[in-house]
Amino acid sequence: MSNSEATTSSPVARLEIDGKVYELPIRRGTEGERAIDISQLRALTGCITLDDGYANTGSCQSAITFIDGEKGILRYRGIPIEELAEHSTFVECAYLIIYGNLPTQRQLSRFSELLSDHQMVHEDMKYHFEGFPATAHPMAILSSMINASSCFYPGLMAGGYNPERFEIQAARLISQVRTIAAFSYRKSRGLPIIYPKRAYKYTQNFLHMMFSMPNEDYPLDPEVVRALDLVLLLHADHEQNCSTATVRTVASSRANLFASAAAGVCALWGPLHGGANQAVIEMLQAIHDEGDDGTKFIEAAKSKKRRLMGFGHRVYKNYDPRARIIKKACDDLLAKLNTTDPLLDIAKRLEEAAIHDDYFIERKLYPNVDFYSGIIMRAVGIPLEMFTVIFAIGRMPGWIANYKEIMENSESRIYRPRQLYIGQTLRHYVPVEERG
Ligand code: SDX
Repeated sequence: MSNSEATTSSPVARLEIDGKVYELPIRRGTEGERAIDISQLRALTGCITLDDGYANTGSCQSAITFIDGEKGILRYRGIPIEELAEHSTFVECAYLIIYGNLPTQRQLSRFSELLSDHQMVHEDMKYHFEGFPATAHPMAILSSMINASSCFYPGLMAGGYNPERFEIQAARLISQVRTIAAFSYRKSRGLPIIYPKRAYKYTQNFLHMMFSMPNEDYPLDPEVVRALDLVLLLHADHEQNCSTATVRTVASSRANLFASAAAGVCALWGPLHGGANQAVIEMLQAIHDEGDDGTKFIEAAKSKKRRLMGFGHRVYKNYDPRARIIKKACDDLLAKLNTTDPLLDIAKRLEEAAIHDDYFIERKLYPNVDFYSGIIMRAVGIPLEMFTVIFAIGRMPGWIANYKEIMENSESRIYRPRQLYIGQTLRHYVPVEERG
């Protein structure tokens, strides 16, 4: 690409450095977004870009999920999240996100069969569970056990990326993340582990493994199953969020799928990311216990003494469409269960106050997916420390799809960002006796 002659065919951005004008190609996405391609910037100018938190930087071109943050749009492979929430299931969306299209009936049956075939973890994994203290956070267990589980399938993991092996790996990971999560919960409560049943569908089996007892199966309320399945579906992918970017970073070195997913679990755990759903409930509970109607907390958030967890988003500068769907699902589920949750009332009061307050309006801070998701999980009976694990189970298809996208792109390069060095300039070793 020349640094002065205009290539009139494609649009360009012009950059002037030290009196020299450089032209950088502008790439256009299928939804009209534009990106300045800086892949030759350093070679041409000797400069790099600097973008703390990558707020303005595209790390890849992806065909999986589209978000328009200004309009509050979210689509999986082009299908609006609202339509999928109303008509689809988590397993069907997992197939859509990973393989690119809604499955035919035959494809869906085969995918479900694969998930059932691979729902058991290797029996020797139980000894790993024994090694964790009962107080271990289930996200720590989940990340460890995902990586550990690959040790039991050397044949499946050998030889780099291969579409046939990938299909089994993906099914095993989606199915077993649920089993590992349930086993870690049972271990934390000193309860016997409950094995999955082939007759049960994905989310039914998770609730069965979480809450059944050896002599009594957990009663599967269809409303509860549907609500949890919806939570998983709404978390299934979300373009280049922190944990998915982590998965892609690990995948870019051509590490295996399990290692990449285990890294994604660690990134998701942080309270600014997937850990926010647990932090929201802790925040609401504290507000409730302090007898605050939310006013004090909002003021504390505005003076930056507290953070309104579940609010704000790097991309959404409008209402997170998932939050809108989950908020309605909260009302529906609590009504069907003929129960209420004082924390939901507090959450609604906080939202009402915040969306009419200039501090939040000016910063375009709206509820995100984590603001209401904890209410549903409480109603389903999921313990607080498992909330982010539920997020990880939901996000697994998105991580797997992004892994596949990297592996099937022969031009994808290892992620290796540059830096702007601001440390010591050149100096030399001084023997300790001369250091004063
Ligand atoms: C998820 O990326 C994804 O897609 C993530 C996710 C997914 O599906 O993968 O959608 C899931 O992680 C949702 C986000 C969950 N996290 C939280 O709810 C934690 C609370 N939110 C914030 O910490 C924050 O909004 C982030 C982390 C979500 C976004 O951080 P940014 O984009 O770096 O924004 P920022 O921290 O620079 O904030 C900009 C301004 C600041 O004020 P000023 O310095 O301009 O005065 O907004 C303020 C912030 O202080 N602000 C908040 C706030 N969030 C931002 N003030 C009070 N409460 C908040 N929640």
